[in-house]
Amino acid sequence: MLNIVINKSLKKYNTFGIDVVASEYVKITSEKELIDILATYRTKKIFILSGGSNMLLTKNIEALVIHIAIKGISVETVSNNSVLVSAYAGENWHDFVQYCIQKNYGGIENLSLIPGYVGSAPIQNIGAYGVELKDTFVNCEAIEIASGVKKIFTTTDCKFGYRNSIFKNELKGKYIITKVTFRLTSISHTLNTSYGAIEKALAEKNIETPSIKHIADAVIQIRKSKLPDPSKIGNSGSFFKNPVISSQHFSDVQKSYPNMPSYTIDEHYSKVPAGWLIDQCGFKGKRWGDAGVHKKQALVIVNYGNASGQELLELSITIQKKVFDTFGIRLETEVNII
Ligand code: EPU
Repeated sequence: MLNIVINKSLKKYNTFGIDVVASEYVKITSEKELIDILATYRTKKIFILSGGSNMLLTKNIEALVIHIAIKGISVETVSNNSVLVSAYAGENWHDFVQYCIQKNYGGIENLSLIPGYVGSAPIQNIGAYGVELKDTFVNCEAIEIASGVKKIFTTTDCKFGYRNSIFKNELKGKYIITKVTFRLTSISHTLNTSYGAIEKALAEKNIETPSIKHIADAVIQIRKSKLPDPSKIGNSGSFFKNPVISSQHFSDVQKSYPNMPSYTIDEHYSKVPAGWLIDQCGFKGKRWGDAGVHKKQALVIVNYGNASGQELLELSITIQKKVFDTFGIRLETEVNII
């Protein structure tokens, strides 16, 4: 029998550490349990909880919160240098990456230390240091909430984009991802060391022929130096997406801010680091009560203790307004506001 808990605090289940209450909460540890609970609750209000690392809870949740904690990893060797590694949705993402590194399976080492669970990684196509989830993704299994039927989504089906997929758009709230499969290398790895900070970290250690473990360690070191550890200071990583602006808009802003960094997308568009824009507006390291902007990376909004979701949301709106007034650039949130 599944244990449905009434009025459960979600403080421990979101990396911002916001203390809101779920009217009902249940932890699911198998696909069967998930299908059973959906059969009973399909017509009632449900809310799917994964690692809680990409959401800002601004109010109590009047619904059955279904916490997807299904675990397990399996490996299938497909050729000399290729393995298919599948992980259930409730596996912690970083533990999964570490497992792959220990087994010498390459391809996701640049994605070390990203908070959250495997099951939500495809939803926003997690990415860091020149690698995105979609690069090694093969498919994912997901249960349709309305029917309880399982469907397999390939890379094409998922319509991945920058921090985006079909699960954030057409299929938002319609499916629950239960398992994700990756194609990884087992002997000869294709390393991605092009990101400046990784090159620097490897050079400092005189590593000329890096292993996947060296890359993972470099990424862990870089992330720890800039990003707050959610177990110590509440946060959800990058709060905003890096905005894409037209080349014309970019050259207009650049006239006043010649040092503005950018990544060229094509001849029509450029991506600008939101962290830099927010930093320029003077928010970095500022604090209002327990709500603040991280002192080493302005893209990260932090909860120093007892900030409410509403206070953090208000801070994010203040940042959006100031960035718009200063640069004419609209910042979109990366984090889901609930
Ligand atoms: N910058 C500043 N001030 C700041 C922050 C950044 O001037 O306070 C400048 C940096 O000097 C650099 C540029 O902005 O020139 C970009 O900064 P960084 O390399 O730290 O990367 P980012 O664009 O801010 C993105 C991802 C991160 C990911 C890193 C590394 C987004 C929204 N964020 O950050 O992802 O780890 O690149 O690949 O795309 C996340 O999604 O939660 C996340 C942490």
